[in-house]
Amino acid sequence: MNLTTVILAAGKGTRMRSQLPKVLHKIAHKPLLRHVHDTAIQLENNTIHIVIGHGAELVKKTLSDLSANWVEQTQQLGTGHAVQQVSSQISDDTIALILYGDVPLLKIETLQNLLSKISEKTLALLTVTLKNPTGYGRIVRNNSGKILRIVEEKDASETEKQIVEGNTGILAVQGKSLKKWLSQLGNDNVQGEYYLTDIIALAVTDGFEIITSSPDNEDEVLGVNDKLQLAHLERVYQLQQAQNLMRQGVTLHDPNRFDLRGNLEIGQDVEIDVNVIFEGANNIGDNVKIGANCSIKNATIGDNVVIFPNCVIENATVGASSRIGPFARLRPETILATDTHIGNFVEIKKSVIGPGSKINHLSYIGDSLIGKKVNIGAGTITCNYDGVNKFQTIIEDGAFIGSDTQLVAPVTVGKNATIGAGSTITRDTPDEQLTLSRNKQISVPTWQRPVKKEKL
Ligand code: UD1
Ligand code: CA
Repeated sequence: MNLTTVILAAGKGTRMRSQLPKVLHKIAHKPLLRHVHDTAIQLENNTIHIVIGHGAELVKKTLSDLSANWVEQTQQLGTGHAVQQVSSQISDDTIALILYGDVPLLKIETLQNLLSKISEKTLALLTVTLKNPTGYGRIVRNNSGKILRIVEEKDASETEKQIVEGNTGILAVQGKSLKKWLSQLGNDNVQGEYYLTDIIALAVTDGFEIITSSPDNEDEVLGVNDKLQLAHLERVYQLQQAQNLMRQGVTLHDPNRFDLRGNLEIGQDVEIDVNVIFEGANNIGDNVKIGANCSIKNATIGDNVVIFPNCVIENATVGASSRIGPFARLRPETILATDTHIGNFVEIKKSVIGPGSKINHLSYIGDSLIGKKVNIGAGTITCNYDGVNKFQTIIEDGAFIGSDTQLVAPVTVGKNATIGAGSTITRDTPDEQLTLSRNKQISVPTWQRPVKKEKL
């Protein structure tokens, strides 16, 4: 079966109160339209057309990688008019499937189920029974339950408004018939629009049977019209992801306070405390514990790692059995080997830290190569930047850097070298020796504390 999917995405989204076209607003950092596309693309033998209008250029530019054909609807004259723009590209023997760019959480199974209902003389329509159907087109059935037509809310009589079966807008039918009905649409209605929904009555006239199916859950077919609905669907989506992870065995201390904005490959017996946000592509090993309030982006985290609360990790690799934080920041191109300890208020950028090395308190390490079993004392700073260029610091295996040391790069600290606390190191230091740069300590017996001046 050949499939032609039309995704409607030309509307303005006035109620979003935003300059951004509606379908570019995001759920889990991914534009609404991309969600819909990524679901549709999973259907076999599918050609996707996306109808754009408001902000068309921006939509195309932002989502230029989608495997879809862009069709412009210069004036938004209604959903039927939108589909008409694609008419010439829908072949007779294909099944046409209509989707909405602002209905992001629709499941592939729901579409497959809908498509399975199609035969030569049927139109498959996704409907939903709603507690509050306000705003939806209503499904009008006769006494024996046969569908006759759809009436839009604005055109509905008081009796029709009582109907709780709503039109999701999503439907599928053979291309040939769809094109015929599209050419017959008029705009004689309250909104003066060409309604796609009017094809239902035309199909009935042509002797078609309207077969319905429904999604498992109403949230699947909810559209985004304003920021409240966007936030609602964000939570729905996040909870789904959290539930998937829990099914895989991940312990989430509170699935309602978990955010995944990207992908997460995760091992066994991982425990994640509240308010952890993952972005991009992350890979987490077995037995990892992540404390509360961590932001983790494009990270690879090895087995048995413990991340204490309030850490920010981006484009970094954390070796197995390492301990990070609390309050640590791993910036891009940080590579930590196994069994490293990175403590509170430590910032690391573009550096490789060897196995068993420790940087436990209040340090900045940038553009550095640090060997194994190095101990970096509290308050150590690599001075990697002269205001114009960046330079590298190398600290060889087994070195011990005393607290409050400044290492002025480029500089190399030798193997097993010790640096005395409070030193400013500007030249390479030899292996195995103590190096320090400090004024001699003096005491001044004649010195007296200042006294407070008397007020005049
Ligand atoms: C539509 C349905 C209604 C259904 C509801 C479900 C029609 C006439 N009505 O109403 O039965 O219950 O969806 O949410 O179809 N669009 C275009 N070009 C246009 C007009 C709309 O691309 O000229 C796109 C919009 O961007 C949006 C979608 O079509 O993605 C739906 O349009 P919208 O105006 O929101 O239709 P509703 O009034 O919600
Ligand atoms: Ca809508």
